[in-house]
Amino acid sequence: MNAIKISKMKFGCRLFMQSRSVLGFIKSPNPIRNLHISSHPFLGLRCANNQTHNHFCVSYPKCRQSCCSSSSKSSSNKPDHIADHSTIFETRPNEKNFESNYVHGGGGGGDSDEPAGKTVVETEMEKEAWRLLKEAVVTYCGNPVGTLAANDPGDKMPLNYDQVFIRDFVPSALAFLLKGEGEIVRNFLLNTLQLQSWEKTVDCYSPGQGLMPASFKIRTVPLDDSKVEEVLDPDFGESAIGRVAPVDSGKTRLWWIILLRAYIKITGDYAMQERVDVQTGIKLILNLCLSDGFDMFPSLLVTDGSCMIDRRMGIHGHPLEIQSLFYSALRCAREMLALDEGSKNLVKTVNNRLSALSFHIREYYWIDMKKINEIYRYKTEEYSTEAINKFNIYPEQIPYWLMDWIPEEGGYMIGNLQPAHMDFRFFTLGNIWSIVSSLSTPKQNNSILNLLESKWDDLVGDMPLKIIYPALEEEEWRIITGSDPKNTPWSYHNGGSWPTLLWQFTLACIKMGRIDLARKAVDLAENRLYGDHWPEYYDTRSGKFIGKQSRLYQTWTIAGYLTSKMLLENPEKASLLFWEEDYDLLEMCVCALSKTGRKLCARGAAKSQILV
Ligand code: GLC
Repeated sequence: MNAIKISKMKFGCRLFMQSRSVLGFIKSPNPIRNLHISSHPFLGLRCANNQTHNHFCVSYPKCRQSCCSSSSKSSSNKPDHIADHSTIFETRPNEKNFESNYVHGGGGGGDSDEPAGKTVVETEMEKEAWRLLKEAVVTYCGNPVGTLAANDPGDKMPLNYDQVFIRDFVPSALAFLLKGEGEIVRNFLLNTLQLQSWEKTVDCYSPGQGLMPASFKIRTVPLDDSKVEEVLDPDFGESAIGRVAPVDSGKTRLWWIILLRAYIKITGDYAMQERVDVQTGIKLILNLCLSDGFDMFPSLLVTDGSCMIDRRMGIHGHPLEIQSLFYSALRCAREMLALDEGSKNLVKTVNNRLSALSFHIREYYWIDMKKINEIYRYKTEEYSTEAINKFNIYPEQIPYWLMDWIPEEGGYMIGNLQPAHMDFRFFTLGNIWSIVSSLSTPKQNNSILNLLESKWDDLVGDMPLKIIYPALEEEEWRIITGSDPKNTPWSYHNGGSWPTLLWQFTLACIKMGRIDLARKAVDLAENRLYGDHWPEYYDTRSGKFIGKQSRLYQTWTIAGYLTSKMLLENPEKASLLFWEEDYDLLEMCVCALSKTGRKLCARGAAKSQILV
């Protein structure tokens, strides 16, 4: 508490300097927006209440509606402009109460024609999972806004697991949405959207406009007159272990935009996407992702630890996971962007990038037995636009394990591609999400699932699913992870098994008509998760042991399980969460070379390999 008070005094004068709206209000400073800005440099939105929890609120309409009048600072004390703000954060009519809205097998209105409320009897395990998920819900000014990363009562050192992580909240959000509960998701989306208007500094360096936090926490700060104030305190990476840049959820907000689209598709709340702040938020994401850099590739260039694997694991460069999420986010944005004169060029840019990105990944990241044999026979040091070995890959870098491991049927996307470097490890999330987003071709999608099936013991084993295969060992582990004791071989990010990946696997299987595979994985998880108290991850080659430092009651394990079960019960809902092949994108090529007739477009020449 002291620290908070001291910082408040110290930084109070920086209130308006710290704030920089990026939602279209830059040129005309808006006093209403400044109300969101705490005088604490690390505290975002704020909402005040007295000790008896009667809230008065400066930024939250529901809070204002239900609590403000009973507070000593009643609505009559509010400046006039506060009321104006309700147009930004309006409460939806007929919004149902959070607690009263659980109908198993339900689901919102949305794009699905299926009647809501299919009755399925809940198992004891599902009931327990729902109880735990509800217990993990975090409220802000009395409104649900997210779920804690882990909620283990026995954990005396929660570190940052007592925060709401953007990426971790996605399966929770889907579980709630599939139950017909949209409010928590809507609140989450709008609150995190507002947090992006913060200018953050790490050691006096401002990482860039439009940043969204990796996680946030609700803190209670004492005020004068025995009142307390709730503040939404974001972590943009300045406190994160290793100061990692969360590209998947923070910097380019890929998960946020994917969740926004899921929310709209499942609830049918299309008014949400028409909001000015949401439209501006989408444009901001696009500007960040599509801005020119030094890079030669259409893929996003990121640092190590920029995604679910948020520590050193040798994934800096162009990791597949980020590319799959980037591709999905672009497809989401294209769908949700209001079409007008102002957005025409942006949509064109998005289409060009989608087309270039899918070509790049399909063509250069894909490997199967045939392709490995080609690489094995590559010539190097080729200098020309027609080079076969474009990235100058030395065949010696094909690892021995891969030559034995690759099945005759099936293939996968490699983890990363850089000049003279292919990371041949199998990264599960990137591969599964390529299927879900149609970044890979339908044929490749099937092949990835074939590989998962034929390598089941390695990639699923006793607990779905391995985050990476294989683990880094010995010298490689020492050099690449920096001797990370949490990421020892076959533990945590280094070949550990993560049950949260179950929902994404289920979604990919439903998309490709492989429900049998998804059920097999869910059955395996069902055998253990409940009895093991919902661990974050499992260790050993087959995922036999609960992870060495694994949290228990990990929320995305619980929510991932529930989401998988509900997707299997309502496969028609799954179709709202994945994308089919976009054939128009295959035809698109902005390269002017072929038109001049002077040079062959390399893409045109290679096209035969990437056709569906
Ligand atoms: C670990 C995971 C990360 C997750 C966080 C909270 O750091 O690597 O992906 O978001 O825990 O659960």
